[in-house]
Amino acid sequence: MNIYVDSKMSDDSRRKELYRGSIFVHSPSPSALRLCQLAQSMIEEAFHPFDPLTVHQHITPEKCAEILAVLKPRFIHHPESKQCIQGILSEAGCDLSQTYFDVPRMRTAYPGDYLKSGIAYAFHPHRDTWYSAPYCQINWWMPIYDLNSENGMALHPHYFDRPIKNSSRGYNYHKWNLESRQNAAQHVKSDTRVQPRAEEPIELDPQVRLVCKVGGAYQFSAASLHSTVPNTSDVIRYSIDFRTVHLADVLGRIGARNVDSECTGTTMGDYLRGTDFSHLPNEAISMYQDGTEVMYAKA
Ligand SMILES: [Fe+2]
Repeated sequence: MNIYVDSKMSDDSRRKELYRGSIFVHSPSPSALRLCQLAQSMIEEAFHPFDPLTVHQHITPEKCAEILAVLKPRFIHHPESKQCIQGILSEAGCDLSQTYFDVPRMRTAYPGDYLKSGIAYAFHPHRDTWYSAPYCQINWWMPIYDLNSENGMALHPHYFDRPIKNSSRGYNYHKWNLESRQNAAQHVKSDTRVQPRAEEPIELDPQVRLVCKVGGAYQFSAASLHSTVPNTSDVIRYSIDFRTVHLADVLGRIGARNVDSECTGTTMGDYLRGTDFSHLPNEAISMYQDGTEVMYAKA
């Protein structure tokens, strides 16, 4: 496994490396900085008059969750967010006509036990492929404000090829969407939603914590084990992540190897083409469907 910094590798070669567990780190690009600025202005407006990095010292977790429940979807669906992703992808050498992305999410990690469930879920070690992501999915992650090693995200590369006993067999993306997502803001103190997790002790070390600049981003495979770093700093972490798939890899079933995932359903219906935001062709989506999308169709 390699960590590439500002690599000039073509996107085709880069994806092959990502599927082998490598990580690609990018310096801030103009569109990434624009996306971070958009996020910052929305965050600052939402928490006004408080400093967004220390809001936890001023308001209750319940109030904070209430604000996040409005702020996060507003950011996800902001028209400028999608345009920034287009820019980030083309600045990173991706072919927009072949690359599909899902809308960017805003994530938060609060110091201590202030708020770490529901709308601010602190992710236990997981692979996104336990959550019905395809093996060709690539994750992108970037901090919105200055990051430090105590409030970021960790990758656990020694598990890339190593199966972990896990409960992904009980997870279905369509069922999850139907039952859980709408209620995320209600889970302030604890989270009762069933999520796929390891069923054996996980050795978190050695771990990689990439501390990049605001607008800097890194890419890793959806099959990479990663987790939220317990925030032992005194400031809140705000970050953005989004995912991409490449049409040729979707059609060719090319991607990371499945070492241990048994979930059902697929996120393939979520990705939007870099050029015109259209969904993947039906024949591509249907290759990954298993019937559960009908079973748990929204009423
Ligand atoms: Fe994840």
